[in-house]
Amino acid sequence: MIKTIQLGYADFNCTNLSRMADYYENVIGLTLVEEGDQGEKYLSSSLDHHNIVLRSSRESELSTLGFQIAETDSLENIQQFLAQAGIHSELKSDYQPGIRKLLELNDPDGYTIHLYHHIDMPAPGYKRDSISPFKLGHIALGSKKQQESVDFYREILGFLETDKIGNRAAFLTCNSDHHVLNISNFGHKIMHHIAFQLKDSSHHTLSADFLASKNIPLVWGPFRHTAGHNLASYHQDPELNLIELYTEMDQYIPELGYFEPRPYHSELPLRPREWPRNCKWYPKVERDIIDSVLQKVEFNNRLVSQIHD
Ligand SMILES: [Fe+2]
Repeated sequence: MIKTIQLGYADFNCTNLSRMADYYENVIGLTLVEEGDQGEKYLSSSLDHHNIVLRSSRESELSTLGFQIAETDSLENIQQFLAQAGIHSELKSDYQPGIRKLLELNDPDGYTIHLYHHIDMPAPGYKRDSISPFKLGHIALGSKKQQESVDFYREILGFLETDKIGNRAAFLTCNSDHHVLNISNFGHKIMHHIAFQLKDSSHHTLSADFLASKNIPLVWGPFRHTAGHNLASYHQDPELNLIELYTEMDQYIPELGYFEPRPYHSELPLRPREWPRNCKWYPKVERDIIDSVLQKVEFNNRLVSQIHD
């Protein structure tokens, strides 16, 4: 059995690498730790060798998710466990900077998944002239195979399901955060958003002002979600990937089966549940956010048609 500890990194294909690197280094405030042989950029939020990887491509999309897993077993034995579950994986050594050994496999939607025990920790620290979030916190995936994907992350990677929003979105965690993955029934394989954790609610104000100074508008927020209760705002990176900045996410105690109590919880103790979609503000938020994800879908479709022309 695999025990996933945390989302370690997200690897993006980009059509304009320099523009994307400028955003992630100078707006989000990650630190460039290393450049690969093909010019790919390995960026750290504070400690690990990389949390975001950017590489030049004719496509613009999330390609790979890296998960750090507990050292309960060797990667060779984990490969056998995966094979018994009918999942092909490849053991790779010195495949990318910062990680000596990893297992590569695919999730049901076709995202490349990397599992690793150790990553170098150059610890470049936090910048002081940009947003500089605490960490890469979660990724929301629009899925063509939602239930299959949820089953994969639960049964193979050891995630727990916390909340649901109807049959549209499932929230999964591998640690105390309410969600590390959010898998929505989108009918399309598309990254819905990627989320960075801010320091506190006042950091939202500073971040919004900073984004405004860079002429980057907010898509929505800051506002408090239902599932997870994270105080969140959304904007887009230069290639229209939706970026969430959040703080105050619910903290789950799996042994007790409830979330740490908060004054804004509608019931105490608050346990994993299914949330309705009929809150007054939800349809508008959902429409604005989905519109921005659909902009990204159109952006990618234009790229695909350019590649085939
Ligand atoms: Fe989110």
